[in-house]
Amino acid sequence: MKFPESFVWGAATASYQIEGAVDEDGRGPSIWDTFSRTPGNVAMGHTGDVACDHYHRYRSDVRLMRELGLKAYRFSVAWPRIQADGTGPANPKGLAFYDRLVDALLEAEISPYVTLYHWDLPQALEDRGGWPLRDTAYRFADYAVAVHDRLGDRVEHWTTLNEPWVSAFLGYGNGVHAPGRKDADDAERAAHHLLLAHGLAAGRLRELGARSLMLVVNSAPVLTPAQVNDPASVPGEADAAAVDRIHALLTRRFLDPVLRGRYPDEIRHEARDGDLEIISTPIDLVGINYYNPCVVQAAPGEPADLAWPGSEGIRFAAADAPTTAMGWPIVPDGLSRLLVRLSRDYPEVGFMVTENGAAFDDVVDGGRVHDDDRIAYLAEHLREVGHAIEAGADVRGYLVWSLLDNFEWAFGYDERFGLVHVDYATQARTPKDSALWYRDVIAGNGP
Ligand code: FCB
Repeated sequence: MKFPESFVWGAATASYQIEGAVDEDGRGPSIWDTFSRTPGNVAMGHTGDVACDHYHRYRSDVRLMRELGLKAYRFSVAWPRIQADGTGPANPKGLAFYDRLVDALLEAEISPYVTLYHWDLPQALEDRGGWPLRDTAYRFADYAVAVHDRLGDRVEHWTTLNEPWVSAFLGYGNGVHAPGRKDADDAERAAHHLLLAHGLAAGRLRELGARSLMLVVNSAPVLTPAQVNDPASVPGEADAAAVDRIHALLTRRFLDPVLRGRYPDEIRHEARDGDLEIISTPIDLVGINYYNPCVVQAAPGEPADLAWPGSEGIRFAAADAPTTAMGWPIVPDGLSRLLVRLSRDYPEVGFMVTENGAAFDDVVDGGRVHDDDRIAYLAEHLREVGHAIEAGADVRGYLVWSLLDNFEWAFGYDERFGLVHVDYATQARTPKDSALWYRDVIAGNGP
């Protein structure tokens, strides 16, 4: 299977999941520091205090990326390194870290894909109200400009937010993620303000000459249980309505305002006059993080899930499919179904798979990690990306989640998503068999 010559191959990480060094060089606390240090929130009380120590080891990590032949590396900037309390002048030492990282990547001929927000909000902004507070969107735009001022001469690819659905509905809805609040109305307010933050930052970065702007969403095909293994199965009226509603709550809630300047009818929001114009500032790419489909069925009388305001009468169901160590169902053709549909629904924008990957119970065995299950997962999903392209979807690249094993949020360090194994006691890096396989995929421009 051959991919377009310009296809971008890479891997992704996020600041809080790998950097460690949470008290160094003027970094302020983030909501994930507070949340992970609060007993009961993260498995085994794990925190990101040290993580992969990437803050100190970034040079050797970039060497590793070069050895794997990565063309692109997607990482995020920790807002509290740039503004300890989320406002005011930028911290030169925080900027200098990303400056050095970008230079090391460019020297290794790896294209930096910078994400401005992958969930580590400065705690001081949360104390003032967090994302449910409108002002946080304006603070984000100022921060985005500060980062662009320093890196914009070398970085072409800018992502505003990673998975605003997760920030809003797991952070403020069911409270499984930082800051751990449980209030459906606040979650909906947060979702709108995240979109506003995206639009404000996209507008300012565009004015400053940013070449490529992207929003990354956690999207998924919404399917009935029968559709998981039989794409041709036709749901009854009630199930079809459940599918449409969850697609609106998960994906259209973000992509319609950004790409069409309006909210779907299903969405409750408090947009002010002019907000949608800001939110629909033109962008170049939508990033898709895909792990598994979202399986639903009509269930009259079912109350709304805390993370899904507006989902009353709908039940989330299991998929009849094998699972990863996370318990997430493996449905590779969900990815092609999703890409084909989104590319058809939103022809005005290009797409990129900005995360895809799997956790398995890896073991180091004589200096090797034989993760055949991960190779199979990645190969099957890549094949589906190829099918989507053949079917006409505009997909520009594929980034594996993740370069390194890392802090998997509420699951702590037990879930390993890396191409490269990390021994947290010694910080030793061991490329897994999947990393060596991926190196060959990149070299051959396809699996
Ligand atoms: C995504 C996140 C990423 C990682 C993967 C497994 O939702 O963006 O940080 O945790 O899931």
